Amino acid sequence: MQDANAQQWLVTGANGNLGRRFILETLASAEAKICAVVRSQRAAEQLEMSELTGEQRARLDVVVLDYTDHKALLGAAQGCTRALHLVGILKATKSAPYTQAHEESAAVMAKVCDESSIEHLTYLSILGSHASSPNACLASKGRAEEILLGAKTSACVLRVPMVLGEGDYASGALLTRGAQVRSFAFRPESLEQPIYAGDVIKAVGQAALLKHAGALDLAGAESLSRKELLQRVAACMGKTTSVVGLPITLGYAIAACMQALLANPPLTSAMLGVLDHDDDIDPAPALQVLQMQALCGVEATINKLLATNADAELKKVD
Ligand SMILES: NC(=O)c1ccc[n+]([C@@H]2O[C@H](COP(=O)([O-])OP(=O)(O)OC[C@H]3O[C@@H](n4cnc5c(N)ncnc54)[C@H](OP(=O)(O)O)[C@@H]3O)[C@@H](O)[C@H]2O)c1
Repeated sequence: MQDANAQQWLVTGANGNLGRRFILETLASAEAKICAVVRSQRAAEQLEMSELTGEQRARLDVVVLDYTDHKALLGAAQGCTRALHLVGILKATKSAPYTQAHEESAAVMAKVCDESSIEHLTYLSILGSHASSPNACLASKGRAEEILLGAKTSACVLRVPMVLGEGDYASGALLTRGAQVRSFAFRPESLEQPIYAGDVIKAVGQAALLKHAGALDLAGAESLSRKELLQRVAACMGKTTSVVGLPITLGYAIAACMQALLANPPLTSAMLGVLDHDDDIDPAPALQVLQMQALCGVEATINKLLATNADAELKKVD
């Protein structure tokens, strides 16, 4: 097996939630180098992470380019041995369609891997994605998976559901809703199987270390209804919350109106379909393949999010 410390990573979509976390954890725990690829100066600035030491920062190279610019991405990949493709969207707009974010970026990434020193590639996809899905987002992700799995380079697709991590937007929203006396939810019986962001990062590292080729479905330790998830969040805060169900058809009607009227609607039908997907899989086969131990449980994950929130509040007071 290769020496994990000697690896050089190419990470696309590096300024996102999971990209920033991957950079912090990878540079903290090994001597690995990272070429972090982003598509704007604003995104490059997001990677000016105060948590990095000077020595860790010296092992991070940030490159700004267009993910469909083959020549530029190939240049960034020089010397890299592992790749992590994190480019993805939940909501498409007219100016940013799914095909551009998913299939087009995947096609360039696959080609670059095949033409460079990269030996293994990992792609994060969404649980439920497949090319023939009736949902536009899941179908596009599924087609991107096929493109990457079709590369000559050994590639692993990790399909995960809702990821919860300290400080990310979705986790913050979940904590806010759990703290309310009453909240509203479309189809509250819809099944969630949230996975802790730290476990996702571990899985990416294991997939690369083991050079796993193929698709794996990985989700959190427990599948529970959206209503129960909100109630567990409330309970972890020592509170109770009542969840009022709204019909999903109402959600789709609101999304359709927004899509008809707004250039950048806050909610789309495809997005709602992904959020409403019932996530209920056995994570054991993927854990076995990745040689990973049990995943962080729901309560443990919520408590990690709450602890970080409490720290942030304390820093504000200081
Ligand atoms: N977080 C989750 O709950 C979750 C669950 C399942 C799967 N995943 C997958 O995991 C990956 C990383 O997730 P994340 O939470 O880190 O996502 P994120 O924070 O939203 O970051 C997404 C990245 O994709 C880039 N991007 C967005 N729109 C783009 C477009 N139209 N063209 C090219 N690049 C674009 C973003 O760049 P800008 O900042 O410049 O826009 C950013 O670098 C994604 O592919 C996502 O589908 C995430």
